[in-house]
Amino acid sequence: MKPRGVLLAGNWKMNHGPKAAQDFFRALPYSKKPGATMRIYPSYLSLATALDSVSAAGRDIEIGAQNFHAEKSGAFTGEVSGPMLQEIGIHQVLLGHSERRQYFSETPAVILNKTVSALQQGFEVLLCIGETLDERKAGQTVEVLTHQLKSTLADPTCSAAFGTSLHLAYEPVWAIGTGVTATPAQAQATHASLRSLLTRSLGEISADAVQILYGGSVTPGNFGELLACPDIDGGLVGGASLKPESFGALWSLISS
Ligand code: PGA
Repeated sequence: MKPRGVLLAGNWKMNHGPKAAQDFFRALPYSKKPGATMRIYPSYLSLATALDSVSAAGRDIEIGAQNFHAEKSGAFTGEVSGPMLQEIGIHQVLLGHSERRQYFSETPAVILNKTVSALQQGFEVLLCIGETLDERKAGQTVEVLTHQLKSTLADPTCSAAFGTSLHLAYEPVWAIGTGVTATPAQAQATHASLRSLLTRSLGEISADAVQILYGGSVTPGNFGELLACPDIDGGLVGGASLKPESFGALWSLISS
């Protein structure tokens, strides 16, 4: 078993309304594995159904939100706040996904604000970072990731939460939804650089406790090799999390 345990997280993005969510959980092959956690991030609309489906089946699957608003309430049409999520039993949020950065103009400052607010409200945060293809080709991967994490590492709330309620997902933007995965060697090298960056900023004990998930075209065909890398603590999965068969197949690759 891996020292930090394994997290398999599915990001459904804008897929699966309540009916599809219920069907997914009914068909999902699941067995409890010591040291491994399964988590799904459905759309807001499917959160309550996902929670009900999981608890009705007595399964230990975590359910989290794909986003939230940093303010607790107010005149923010179309938004959902932390207290609303907690009212229905959600304590996990995914923040900083490249689609939020790209299509919803979430700047590093916005993401930091959300991260701090989520942590202060008691959420566990999975923070996504990743470089574009141009940045990788220009040899700037580590520099870009360092820049993306800089304000988070400098913030006292975040730095105290790393390894307990704040974890990372490294998702190269060029690998998301493209069918192109980072090779295990590329992913491991980047994860190891991230781990040393965390060690320099937080010290070894906290840095060693941070789960760093890999994301970007993870499938049952490549997950085993990725998971065998020492600094890869699990996967954040989009496309392959939508079908119970493929997500179940990913889960079955985690050794118990
Ligand atoms: P993908 O998405 O697995 O479909 O590439 C991953 C993600 O965006 O989290």
